[in-house]
Amino acid sequence: MPSALSISDLSLTIGGATILDGISFEVAEKEILGIIGPNGAGKTSFFNLLSGLRTPTRGSIHMDSVDITHFPAYKRAKAGLARTFQTSSVFVNLSLLENVRIAAQAAAGHSMNVTKDAYSFKAAIDASMDCLEQVGLTSRAHQIAGSLSHGDKRRLEIAIVLASKSKIVLLDEPMAGMNVENIPELVEIIRSLSRTFGKTVLIVEHHMDVVLDLADRIAVLNYGELIICDTPDKVIANPTVQSAYLGAAL
Ligand SMILES: Nc1ncnc2c1ncn2[C@@H]1O[C@H](COP(=O)(O)OP(=O)(O)OP(=O)(O)O)[C@@H](O)[C@H]1O
Ligand SMILES: [Mg+2]
Repeated sequence: MPSALSISDLSLTIGGATILDGISFEVAEKEILGIIGPNGAGKTSFFNLLSGLRTPTRGSIHMDSVDITHFPAYKRAKAGLARTFQTSSVFVNLSLLENVRIAAQAAAGHSMNVTKDAYSFKAAIDASMDCLEQVGLTSRAHQIAGSLSHGDKRRLEIAIVLASKSKIVLLDEPMAGMNVENIPELVEIIRSLSRTFGKTVLIVEHHMDVVLDLADRIAVLNYGELIICDTPDKVIANPTVQSAYLGAAL
C-alpha cells in the first residue's frame, strides 16, 4: 500500500523546550492511524506541524511524495489535508448548510461568491446536503451551528471534512464533550471516512476503547517522543506504553 503521509525526524522546540523529538513513521493510504499519549505528550503539537500551523525545528513531512514541510496551511488544505480542532471550530452564526457549503464551494474550485455561478451554487448545496446526510444532520440543515450540542458540532465538522474532498483527515479528539451514548455512532462515521470514502485518517483520542476499535495502527507519544507505532495488540503488549500510562487499563 503506498504511503499517504511520510513523517521523518519531525522535531519541534519552543523557547528551548523540546515539544517533539525525532518523530518518524509512515501512514498508508486509507489507513486509520490512532495517536495516543498522556496529556501534554505532544499530540496536538504534532497535528500543528502536519497542518502547517507551526513549522518544525527539524525533519520533514511528505504527502504523496510531495515535500509539504514548508507549505503554508492553506496550501496543505488545497493539497488535500483537512483538520478538525480539539475545540470545535465551526461558524456558529451560520447555518449547518452554509458551514458545509463553504467547504464544498472551495473544493469545487469556486470562490465563495456564489452569486456568480448559479449552477455551482445548486451543485454545492446538493453536495452539502449529501454530506449532512452522511452524519445524520439533514433535518437541522437550516439551523445555525451555534444551536447544536457539542457532540453535534463534531458531527458537523466531519460533514465539512467530507465536503472538502480532502484525502487526509486529522481529527483531534472528535469524541471530546460527547455524551457516551452518542459515541458509537460517531465511531461508525469516522470508520466510514476511511472504509467508505477512502480517506486516510489520523485520530487523536483519549477514549482508548474507541482507538482500539477504530485504528489499524496506533502511534504512542510520550514526552514528545514516539514510543511505538504498531498494531493495537502490539501496542497494548508494549511495556513502555504500559508504564507511560502508569498501569491504567489499556
Ligand atoms: N505555544 C507553546 N509554547 C510553549 N509550550 C507549548 C506550546 N504549545 C504546547 N506547549 C507544550 O508542549 C507540550 C505538548 O502539548 P500538546 O498540546 O501538544 O499536548 P497534547 O498531547 O495534545 O495534550 P492533551 O492530551 O492535553 O491535548 C506541553 O508540555 C505543552 O505545555
Ligand atoms: Mg491536545
